[in-house]
Amino acid sequence: MKKVTTSTLLKMKQQSEKISALTAYDASFSKLFDEQGIDVLLIGDSLGMVLQGCDDTLGVSIDDVAYHTRAVRKGVERAFVIADMPFMSYSTPEQTYLNAAKLMAAGASMVKLEGGRWLLESIKGLNERGVPVCGHLGLTPQSVHVFGGFKVQGRDDLQAEQMLEQAKEMAAAGIQLLVLECVPTELAGAISQAVDIPVIGIGAGAETDGQILVMHDMFGISANYMPKFSKNYLQETGDMRTAVSQYIEEVKDGSFPSEAHSFSK
Ligand code: KIV
Ligand code: NA
Repeated sequence: MKKVTTSTLLKMKQQSEKISALTAYDASFSKLFDEQGIDVLLIGDSLGMVLQGCDDTLGVSIDDVAYHTRAVRKGVERAFVIADMPFMSYSTPEQTYLNAAKLMAAGASMVKLEGGRWLLESIKGLNERGVPVCGHLGLTPQSVHVFGGFKVQGRDDLQAEQMLEQAKEMAAAGIQLLVLECVPTELAGAISQAVDIPVIGIGAGAETDGQILVMHDMFGISANYMPKFSKNYLQETGDMRTAVSQYIEEVKDGSFPSEAHSFSK
């Protein structure tokens, strides 16, 4: 089985094949997702919410993410594995490199950082040191207290323009993938067209190059609440394997997300 790499993901964008992604936190689920043909698995700092039961992601440590990355890696043969850098683990370039090294050593093939322009030096430095980087713009949950809640981002024109500019600058600095979370469909589509790298959306409409969901939301079993943009595939299908393959199928054929699972301006 051919492993998914950064080259595979880039080629998928170029050939307009949608990228399917889920979060995963352990070997049993990562194996199940991998066997169903998921393209990308993310060890998200969402683990603070769905595994640890917290109200936000701020309490997650680099060791938490490394622990779950080691477990996920063991279940995976084909999918591309990305690990989240948690809150305040990448506040300076120096600190970023040391913490990224822990996640790569644990089995990640790329690290994800939340934020825009302030990360340009770290993105470039990580690349030079052999670490591929995924950006994350829009609703960046580590900034929930700055936003004043989990809110759709990029609804006004100035904010939208700034997001587009930052996406371009980060692509130029070397990110090889970008996650857009909770942004209006039209803006996410414009950003996906404006950059050459693949863009993966969550609550960002159907015009991105791929989709990601938190696995617990996709199964409808999250401890806290179910976001509007998510869909309960377990309820629809009745078993986990079929739920995952249906999710992948709907991402691939563009039927997920529908307008009901997206945000307008
Ligand atoms: O932590 C996470 O699960 C994420 C995804 C929602 C993109 O960052
Ligand atoms: Na995250």
